[in-house]
Amino acid sequence: MDTPRGRRLRVTAGGFQNTTTALIGVAMIVLVAAAVYANGAQPQQATPARATAAAAPRRAAPATAAAGTCMQCHGDVVKHPVVHPKATECESCHVPKTRDAHQFDDKKCTVCHQMVKKDDKFVHGPVAAGECLACHDPHGSEEPQLVRVFGADLCQRCHVDMKARLAEKRFTHEPVKEDCATCHNPHASPSKYQIRVDGAEQCLVCHKTLRKELVTARVQHEAVSVDRECINCHDPHASDLGKQLKGTSMDLCLSCHDREQDAPGGKVQNVKGWLETHTDLHGPIRQQDCVGCHLPHDSEHFRLLRKDYPETFYSPYNPKNYELCFSCHEPDLAKVERTATVTGFRDGDLNLHFLHVNRTEKGRTCRACHEAHSSTEPKHLRETVPFGEWQLPVGYTQTPDGGRCAPGCHLPKEYSRKLVQTTHSPGER
Ligand code: HEC
Ligand code: HEC
Ligand code: HEC
Ligand code: HEC
Ligand code: HEC
Ligand code: HEC
Ligand code: HEC
Ligand code: HEC
Ligand code: HEC
Ligand code: HEC
Ligand code: HEC
Ligand code: HEC
Repeated sequence: MDTPRGRRLRVTAGGFQNTTTALIGVAMIVLVAAAVYANGAQPQQATPARATAAAAPRRAAPATAAAGTCMQCHGDVVKHPVVHPKATECESCHVPKTRDAHQFDDKKCTVCHQMVKKDDKFVHGPVAAGECLACHDPHGSEEPQLVRVFGADLCQRCHVDMKARLAEKRFTHEPVKEDCATCHNPHASPSKYQIRVDGAEQCLVCHKTLRKELVTARVQHEAVSVDRECINCHDPHASDLGKQLKGTSMDLCLSCHDREQDAPGGKVQNVKGWLETHTDLHGPIRQQDCVGCHLPHDSEHFRLLRKDYPETFYSPYNPKNYELCFSCHEPDLAKVERTATVTGFRDGDLNLHFLHVNRTEKGRTCRACHEAHSSTEPKHLRETVPFGEWQLPVGYTQTPDGGRCAPGCHLPKEYSRKLVQTTHSPGER
């Protein structure tokens, strides 16, 4: 059956996507909205015309009514916690057709309220259609600003697709639960989707700690200020992953780090390309967790790292410098000189991590031997390491109980975890 009613219902179920023009969308939605509030939601608000047709006959309207007499019969109009400031001046909206006639020409709200300003390029559908009453009661309401229903519920009467989307997601952003109008102007705005303030500013109105960091932190991430700013990574409404994230941090990060990027200190590597050719992934990356080590917005540390990690090939030993690695790995690894347990990088019980790293001068930093992201060598060892302008080879080979290095640093050496010391001696450089 293709009755108008059937057609209307189908529009409600399918949302707005199938409509070809905004105008059709507006018309349909307003019809649906009218049906919503005329049927169930606000039965008392039906106009007298509808009321007389549907319910018991009411007292007939008088033919005339002198100015100032209206309240004698229509006292209900102003019995609401919130009333329109002009509510008792009936004639400011209901202008008698002739003097004292009880027949009126209704003034449009827009005669007094200019809801669309000159630079408002984006006008909300029902406002464009002049349907102020889809959201407001003209006389009075239980809610501030004469809205028919407060907050998100008002919007979701028409935005049933958004309502369904929010219901499907595990986490809804706090202000979305409360009031869509904190971010969207319900009437019109210069920004797309009637956003009140464009871009990151909209978010930073509330996220004040971040606002401060984005000015003061030592290392800033351009991801926050390019393209779509915060919503490069966050969904403003809801998410299945928590923290309003649109995807796992790895998917998000690699959506931009799939090519070289220009940073203040020079080029930043194409990380995606690297991971595709160096497939032995470091634990956290296997778990798609780039933010295990990096902060997404800004940081006090080199390369947006969460904690300290030396930028250089050499650094005097101080465990604090390696806080990043030691937040997941055993700090004793570089602290104890002799061990049969804490590390596999030992010659007999001589800890070769200690030997290389733990020095007051020219301690080798982890980067001298390890890749942070992934590698082709065992134990995330590097093939080469930048040493000035030279790519110094590391030349590592694993052996059954140890390994062998032929690095650019010294003659080839071998170590074995069996309790015999081979080529290393304590205090050696
Ligand atoms: C003697 C009683 C009485 C007085 C005085 C009176 N009305 Fe009415 N009015 C009615 C009745 C009865 C109806 C029809 C049923 C209803 O809506 O309550 C009505 C209906 C209306 C309607 C809805 C119908 C339409 O034409 O849209 C408006 C608007 C209205 N009145 C405005 C006014 C205004 C403005 C005044 C003062 C200038 C006024 N009335 C004075 C009794 C009165
Ligand atoms: C700010 C503008 C405005 C003012 C002021 C106003 N009205 Fe109305 N009134 C309207 C509009 C618009 C409608 C149509 C509502 C609808 O279609 O749902 C309406 C509808 C009505 C109706 C019929 C439906 C209903 O809600 O009961 C009556 C009766 C009515 N007005 C009476 C009055 C009286 C009496 C006054 C003064 C005490 C008054 N109005 C003041 C705008 C106004
Ligand atoms: C004759 C002029 C006039 C008309 C017509 C008029 N208003 Fe108003 N309205 C005012 C004035 C004056 C105020 C108080 C000052 C302000 O907020 O602009 C007001 C305030 C409001 C407010 C804010 C109320 C609050 O609690 O802060 C809303 C909402 C509103 N009007 C909605 C409407 C709607 C909807 C219509 C049409 C049904 C309408 N107005 C028609 C003059 C009018
Ligand atoms: C989609 C729902 C919706 C529609 C349609 C709508 N409004 Fe509003 N209006 C609101 C909400 C929600 C508020 C609460 C204040 C806010 O957040 O701006 C509001 C606030 C207002 C205010 C008081 C605050 C202000 O911005 O001045 C006025 C006046 C007003 N609306 C008039 C109108 C008029 C006139 C129309 C028709 C041209 C209209 N509204 C259409 C939802 C709507
Ligand atoms: C009376 C029904 C109705 C109500 C209530 C309503 N909207 Fe809308 N909204 C529409 C229509 C119709 C469109 C235009 C749809 C289109 O163009 O496809 C629209 C469009 C939008 C858009 C732009 C969407 C896009 O894809 O371009 C946003 C954002 C929006 N509304 C937010 C809100 C918010 C926030 C509220 C509550 C304050 C609200 N709406 C309440 C009917 C409504
Ligand atoms: C925290 C701010 C914020 C709140 C609160 C918010 N929105 Fe949005 N909304 C946005 C931003 C930002 C966009 C633009 C998203 C984009 O460009 O991808 C948007 C886009 C939209 C769109 C159009 C694009 C789309 O995703 O369909 C609709 C419709 C919409 N919002 C409706 C709503 C409704 C309904 C609510 C309340 C239930 C709401 N919004 C609450 C910020 C918000
Ligand atoms: C009206 C205030 C407000 C606005 C505007 C706002 N937020 Fe929020 N946001 C909150 C509140 C309240 C929470 C929940 C409390 C919290 O964890 O800080 C939250 C939570 C979050 C969270 C999750 C925090 C966590 O620890 O789980 C993220 C991410 C977020 N918002 C991002 C955004 C983005 C992006 C925007 C802009 C599109 C935005 N917010 C706009 C108030 C706001
Ligand atoms: C490059 C992607 C990206 C961008 C751009 C981004 N964020 Fe985030 N944001 C994240 C990730 C990932 C997390 C989760 C961090 C975690 O789990 O420790 C997060 C966490 C948050 C949190 C939760 C508290 C916190 O700091 O951990 C808030 C609030 C937040 N972001 C707001 C914003 C705002 C506001 C903007 C824009 C100014 C923004 N984000 C831009 C990726 C991003
Ligand atoms: C929207 C694109 C975009 C996204 C998404 C993105 N980045 Fe970036 N990132 C950049 C750009 C552009 C630069 C170079 C400019 C700069 O240093 O901020 C950069 C630089 C970096 C740097 C080097 C910073 C420096 O200056 O030393 C690191 C580290 C980084 N990103 C990590 C991440 C991580 C981790 C994620 C995921 C949480 C991520 N990026 C997501 C665009 C992005
Ligand atoms: C185990 C910790 C860790 C994880 C997890 C991690 N990173 Fe890094 N990342 C680092 C360290 C340490 C550096 C600095 C490396 C250096 O300079 O030797 C770095 C550097 C970077 C750089 C700058 C590269 C350059 O050109 O110097 C980018 C971009 C980057 N990481 C992105 C990512 C992305 C994207 C992910 C997730 C796929 C990720 N990181 C996961 C530790 C990590
Ligand atoms: C967020 C936690 C985390 C951080 C920070 C971290 N790692 Fe790892 N690392 C892991 C996990 C998890 C594994 C995998 C362990 C496994 O598979 O048994 C791993 C494995 C390794 C391995 C290989 C171990 C093996 O036996 O295969 C090396 C080498 C390594 N990490 C070095 C580093 C260095 C150097 C840093 C500092 C730049 C660092 N890690 C920072 C979590 C972390
Ligand atoms: C001189 C080169 C070198 C330096 C510098 C170095 N490592 Fe290693 N690391 C190795 C080698 C070689 C292995 C493999 C040991 C084996 O399994 O035979 C290794 C293994 C590891 C492992 C795997 C577990 C273990 O101890 O066997 C971790 C974790 C690790 N290194 C972390 C670090 C951290 C953190 C730093 C910086 C504080 C660091 N390494 C500095 C060469 C180095």
